[in-house]
Amino acid sequence: MIIDSLDHLRRRRSAKWRRYPDDVLPLFVAEMDVPLAPAIADVLRAAVESSDTGYAIPGADLGEAVAGFAARRWGWQVDPAKVTAVADVGVGAVELLRALTSPGDSVVISPPVYPPFFHWVQEAGAQLREVPLADGRRLDLAALETAFASHPAAYLLCNPHNPVGRVHTRDELTALITLASRYGVTVISDEIHAPLVLPGATFTPFLSLPGAADVGVSLISASKAFNLAGLKCAAVVDGTRSVASAFPPDARWRTGHFGVLATVAAFTHGDAWLDGLLGFLDERRTQLGTLLHDRLPWITWTPPEGTFLAWLDCRARPDEEQPARRFLDRGRVALEPGLRFGASGAGYVRLNFGTSAEILDEATQRMVRAYR
Ligand SMILES: Cc1ncc(COP(=O)(O)O)c(C=O)c1O
Repeated sequence: MIIDSLDHLRRRRSAKWRRYPDDVLPLFVAEMDVPLAPAIADVLRAAVESSDTGYAIPGADLGEAVAGFAARRWGWQVDPAKVTAVADVGVGAVELLRALTSPGDSVVISPPVYPPFFHWVQEAGAQLREVPLADGRRLDLAALETAFASHPAAYLLCNPHNPVGRVHTRDELTALITLASRYGVTVISDEIHAPLVLPGATFTPFLSLPGAADVGVSLISASKAFNLAGLKCAAVVDGTRSVASAFPPDARWRTGHFGVLATVAAFTHGDAWLDGLLGFLDERRTQLGTLLHDRLPWITWTPPEGTFLAWLDCRARPDEEQPARRFLDRGRVALEPGLRFGASGAGYVRLNFGTSAEILDEATQRMVRAYR
């Protein structure tokens, strides 16, 4: 995987490259610096050449592409008829929460977790209930049981879990299904990072497990693994109950046309490219471990099992400032502040290693400078 030079990358106009001035190295938001997969670039180029820039009409091709990918990658048999296109995972989650909750209902999340989980629950008008991860990494099944006993409407599962990079095990998910069916809680499984599970770990799609279809609904997308976040397409995969049929009728018009074209191309023709990416990210993960060990030994981390995001514990250097502030102000490197992921993220930063070896090297040098 050849990554463009920093000068070239700075020509991009996405959030990663526009948010901070040019002297800041951006490793914050979850966009990768990789080039587009050729199969996706071809389909988008052809659309531009024929001025094919109208509305999306996601049809059977999206469901079939999702089903083909799920079967090849994870042995998960998805019925294409149960796949509904949405503009992105955030929109899908909010629409699912609106469909599943009534005023006064609560929804459980497990921080530290992707910051919009907090916002989505509020946007849908539900009450937030936090059940933090056990040891900062694992689903706390005992605490979830206590929370589920008060009958929340839903549990928002993040698998793989952003920011800690954990891939929940089959046994943990099976126990979650038991709890969800015992207490009548619907599990919304956000599996956006699933295609990015790295060598050494195995992803279990929630809905592939016995009993899950009766209690769950999943969200998947090509946008993280193929770097398509700006194109606006994700997919709801329904279980037994068709939650997506309760979506507002206009929701189908909000999905991006380029997003659907790119997602179908990614999920149909992207396997070999994705395998190359996973090998590349595995190397970056190893490189980051070496750089941290050699240059920033006071930072501790558990290498993620999936995603290109590293959750770094900087609490060994307590400071008046949060570490992300100090890395930005003194090192000119932008990392995601841990506190955005919940109170237990105090003293942590999230670093995006979906970039070149050179940029990762430079970023850790800047991090050293920030604490000199
Ligand atoms: C767990 C998780 N869910 C959802 C999203 C955002 O997805 P989308 O841009 O499709 O709303 C992200 C982005 O990084 C994420 O990490």
